[in-house]
Parts: sequence; structure tokens; C-alpha cells
Amino acid sequence: MTILLLGSGGREHALAWKMLQSEKCSQLFVAPGNAGTNEIATNVALNPLDFEAVKHFTLENKIDMVVVGPEDPLVHGIYDFFQNDAQISHIPVIGPSKVGAQLEGSKEFAKQFLVKNNIPTARYESFTKDTVEQGCEFLTTLDAPYVLKADGLAAGKGVLILNDLVEAQQELRNMLVDAKFGDASSKVVIEEFLDGIELSCFVLTDGKSYKILPTAKDYKRIGEGDTGLNTGGMGAVSPVPFADAVFMEKVETRIVKPTIEGLQKDNIDYKGFVFIGLINVKGEPMVIEYNVRMGDPETEVVMPRVKSDLVELFQAVGKQELAQATLEIDERACTTVIVASGGYPEDYEKGKVITGIENATDSIVFHAGTKNDGDSVLTSGGRVLAVSSYGATFPEALEKSYASIAKIQFAKMYFRKDIGKDLKTL
Ligand code: AMP
Ligand code: GLY
Repeated sequence: MTILLLGSGGREHALAWKMLQSEKCSQLFVAPGNAGTNEIATNVALNPLDFEAVKHFTLENKIDMVVVGPEDPLVHGIYDFFQNDAQISHIPVIGPSKVGAQLEGSKEFAKQFLVKNNIPTARYESFTKDTVEQGCEFLTTLDAPYVLKADGLAAGKGVLILNDLVEAQQELRNMLVDAKFGDASSKVVIEEFLDGIELSCFVLTDGKSYKILPTAKDYKRIGEGDTGLNTGGMGAVSPVPFADAVFMEKVETRIVKPTIEGLQKDNIDYKGFVFIGLINVKGEPMVIEYNVRMGDPETEVVMPRVKSDLVELFQAVGKQELAQATLEIDERACTTVIVASGGYPEDYEKGKVITGIENATDSIVFHAGTKNDGDSVLTSGGRVLAVSSYGATFPEALEKSYASIAKIQFAKMYFRKDIGKDLKTL
């Protein structure tokens, strides 16, 4: 098969790496890709949001399957674009329909879906410019901290957690009246604060049946001890030690099953990944958010633990035959540590020469923000590399990731040294 993968991050390098292990994948294009995908596949200078260009490329290169990495093309309806065009409607697109992608594209849509399907989540109300005063009033009925969420996509920055009531009311006005996050905050969801440890649960579904992939825990803050600004994620471990069989049984019966059944009840076409952001509140799983794609850097620990043929699984998703497929998981733990550009997630410099990747032979070095320049590999983003390793336990895997990072150099590189340190080893 000839496959086109859309995206350019560490997630896409990990998906590409995994798909290329399949005998069914004879050729892989990545659009636009990075220096890592360039080494193992063929990068194409295509904008994943330019659907006409994607169609043209697909026809020209006889693409048999399109796999969508990031949420943007999905929220903009790439699945429906293919479905509604007779020339390309036969090509499976791995990812949900535009309506399905609203689970990530609109916080309010997601909350309504959760409540309608009796899935445990934080109590909430949503407000617009016209109801801003009611929103300020609603905040007085909640205890601190206050959680304000811009309804639309805001590049991971649309959630504010504030300790002070007056400040929360002011921020609500900034979001609704002064459009702090543009259109994304024309509606704001205010919800009850949930106290617990977060984890990510990944599900692959064909809309009828589902497979639960390994769990992972992501480290979102830039600073050690989970301090400082939010990032896309600075490291991840899989499996999550506290997500034991008892906890996962609750996740499956209370959250995963009702999610897939809810999609069916609403006739929502969904053939792709569901990333369920969970929080463990005293042993009870609750949903913080849905995403309609894999997580990054979670993919860099989840994909190495999937033993089954990913292309076969995607084919089964396309044909809605996932129920007959098997999912085999590697028993080993996997960890990843992100190496970032100094300054990220604020301003940082690009174009630094990266050396030593070839010496990190005990790990899999997935590229995130990198590009080629002749024979050199240069930094070209905030998150630059995801250094993933296996181990019998996650502390052993982490030791390998850190030993590998010690062999890699670029100017002003930064990484957190405390990934996984908060977790008990089982
Ligand atoms: P979201 O984009 O909805 O995942 O929110 C971003 C981050 O804000 C989450 O990963 C959590 O760390 C935090 N968060 C969101 N909602 C809540 C909540 N109701 N209670 C506590 N923390 C939350
Ligand atoms: N690592 C979190 C995300 O991909 O949204």
C-alpha cells in the first residue's frame, strides 16, 4: 500500500516508524514531515489544510490510505472532504468526520456529549458575550480554583485555572468581551475543578468496535516538579502505574464504551483515534477532555508498545472490521523525554545544529521540530526531539532515555530531568 501521513511532529515520526514495520506499507509519504520522517519515508511539501492540494497529490501518487496526525485538518473536515468527492471517496481516511472532530474542536460540544451519555466529568455551564454577567455570578457558586475554557481550538492555551474569584471574573470578561482567544473564546465553558492525577487513554475505533491502546502519562509543564508554563508535553511514560486492572475496568465500562455507543447513537462517523484525557479522582476516572488524534509525546511511548501491525489495524478501521482484529501489547515499559529549544514555550531560537543522534543507539530518537540542511539536522521548533526507550520497568527505561540524551548536543538544549519521578514503581 501507498500511504500518506499528514503532520510534522514527534507523533508523526512515531506513527511513520510504526507503519513502516508493516509489510503492507510499500511506500510512505509524510506531509510536511521533519528531518526524522525524511530519513525513513518521503517528505512532501504539502499543507495538510489545503485539501485540494492533498487530493491532487493523492490521485497523482495513487495513495491507498490517508492517516491524519494532528487535529486541525480533522476539525476542518478532511474526512468529509474525501467522502464527498467521488474521485477519492474510496480512499480510507484515518480520523473522524467533521462532526466527530467537534469532540476536540468545541469544549461545549464535548461537555454536552459527556453529560448526554452519563460519562463522569466535571460539572459545568457555558456562557457567551450576552451572558457574561451570569457567568460571573456562576463563578461565585464554585469553590476555587476556577477553570475557564475557551470553547474552540486555541493551540492548547485556551484553558485558564485561577485561584482568585475577582481575577477569574476579569478573565471571563477578557475572553468573552475582549476576545482574548479570538473566535475560540466567543463561548467559554466554566467548570468545577477536579483534584487528582491526570493520564491519557487512547482508543482506536472504527465507529462500531474499539481497541484500547496502552495508557500514558504526559508531563505538561516546562519546569521540574510540574512548574512554569504549559507546553505541548515534555515527556511521557507508559504504562501508567496507577492505571491498574481495576481502574481500567472502570475506564472501559464508564467512559470508553459509552463514548463509542454515544457516537453510534448520534450517527457520528468516527474511524480513528480517540484520546481521552482522564483524571484519577480518588480512584474514580473522570473525563477532562477529548482529543480526536493521538497525543504528542504520548505517541512516542504508545506506538513502541504496540506489537500488532498498525497498517492492518488501520485497514480494519477503514473496513469497519476492527472487532475481528487483535491488538497485542509489548509488556515492557516505554518512556520518552523531550529535548526542547532553550526558551520554549516562549521565544526561542531555531537553526541550531544537532549532533550525536547516531550515538543514542539504546533509544529510539523521534524527531519533532527538526529540518535538514544539506547533511546537517537543524532545530526548527520548540520541541526538537523525543528520546524514547524501553525497559523492564519505567525507571530503567528513563535511565536509558537520559543516557541517550547525554550523547546528543545542540546549543541551548533543555529537557526536564524529573520525568516519571512522581510515580511509584509497581
Ligand atoms: P484541557 O484542554 O481541557 O485538557 O485542559 C488543559 C489542562 O487543564 C488539563 O490537562 C488539566 O491539567 C487542566 N484542567 C482542565 N480541566 C480541569 C478541571 N476541571 N479540573 C482540574 N484541572 C483541569
Ligand atoms: N500531550 C498532549 C496532547 O497531545 O494534547
